[in-house]
Amino acid sequence: MIANLPEPGSVAPTQTIRDHFPALERVHEGREVAYFDGPGGTQVPRTVVQEMTEYLLQHNANTHWCFPSSEETDQRIAGSRRAVADFLNAESHQIVFGQNMTTLTFHLARALGRKFQTGDGLLVTDLDHHANIDPWLDLARERGLTTQFVAMILETGQLDWDDLRAKLALGPKLLAIGGASNALGTINDVALATRLAHDAGALVFIDAVHYAPHRLVDVRAIGCDFLACSAYKFYGPHVGILYGRSELLESLDVPKLRPAPSAAPDRLETGTQNHEGIVGTGAAIDFLASLADGPTRRLRLKATFDELHHRASALVRRLWTGLNAIDRITTFGPPPESDRTPTVSFFIDGVGSDDVCRSLARSGLFASHGDFYASTTIHRLGIPRPGLVRIGSACYSTIEEIERLLAAVEAIAARRK
Ligand SMILES: Cc1ncc(COP(=O)(O)O)c(C=O)c1O
Repeated sequence: MIANLPEPGSVAPTQTIRDHFPALERVHEGREVAYFDGPGGTQVPRTVVQEMTEYLLQHNANTHWCFPSSEETDQRIAGSRRAVADFLNAESHQIVFGQNMTTLTFHLARALGRKFQTGDGLLVTDLDHHANIDPWLDLARERGLTTQFVAMILETGQLDWDDLRAKLALGPKLLAIGGASNALGTINDVALATRLAHDAGALVFIDAVHYAPHRLVDVRAIGCDFLACSAYKFYGPHVGILYGRSELLESLDVPKLRPAPSAAPDRLETGTQNHEGIVGTGAAIDFLASLADGPTRRLRLKATFDELHHRASALVRRLWTGLNAIDRITTFGPPPESDRTPTVSFFIDGVGSDDVCRSLARSGLFASHGDFYASTTIHRLGIPRPGLVRIGSACYSTIEEIERLLAAVEAIAARRK
């Protein structure tokens, strides 16, 4: 039985979406598997795998040579770059591919560091994944920079905007901020943060890894200098993406091999890329666009994201109220009426989050636990190891799966009384 949620407009119904994902046919200990681990990595639709397979079997070559499979490789990579540009509302030459967001961020930080002077300030936030903290802390250590953390409001898991304003007033060179917290689901108004940071003279780097699967990124509207995300969080393969403002991508003193191209984006793409992954990344974006009608890919993506947001909001409302109605459960992060993703973390008093997830798995409910590398967030909340249970819904999630999860969590909590 699939969700009986309103599915207006021309966006594919949830069951049609589910039919694209062979992983959803998995049965574990006699139960259909429900995947709640999307914030750690989503399942992959058949078309993405088909495109990657076809590339490797029919077109595999290195780039920039004068024979057909090399030219086809160039064309496919260029096509995926155009798809990512549409996905972020950017231009193709502003899109850099890499191994993952973390590696791209370390790489970028090293290049930016060559612009900074000893004593310059960097601003990171308590709400971020460490992939958007440690590259900057490392850089600060190497180059003698100072770093400060913008606080979060513990009760709501939201950014403390007064603290952001106060710390921007000290004149940092860079603000590194997340679009959304992968631990709590909080969405930050990154357009506002960018405006404030630019007014204070700081560059802005946005980690959109948890944001991009849930809100359609618009780098023009945000106005940021850099933004990174990862295709494996939005139904694609394991590939990282970096957007940068053209002048910066062209002028940054990036670590690169001398014979490698000197124009952007190639100058930031060190070594041979994951061609099949890049092809799959374009296919994931085309998959999302294919769920809706519209005259352009960007407009189809917009229709898809609007509708998926509407569906996810209903799921997160039910999840939030259902969890909070269970004894011994504490949920974290902003309530459902706030701007948030459909990612909710909680713990059951007296039961380790690892044990909760092991029990859930026996019912075919796959959920992740721990600090999700957002260890500063989890530490500030005072949560001891083994951390929180995290439930994330994705485009294939249904209200029936949420009900199954709530029943299983209630049974686990009741057993420990
Ligand atoms: C919010 C957020 N930022 C950054 C990362 C790191 O991304 P990657 O695995 O592509 O390095 C993750 C991964 O879980 C994440 O959730």
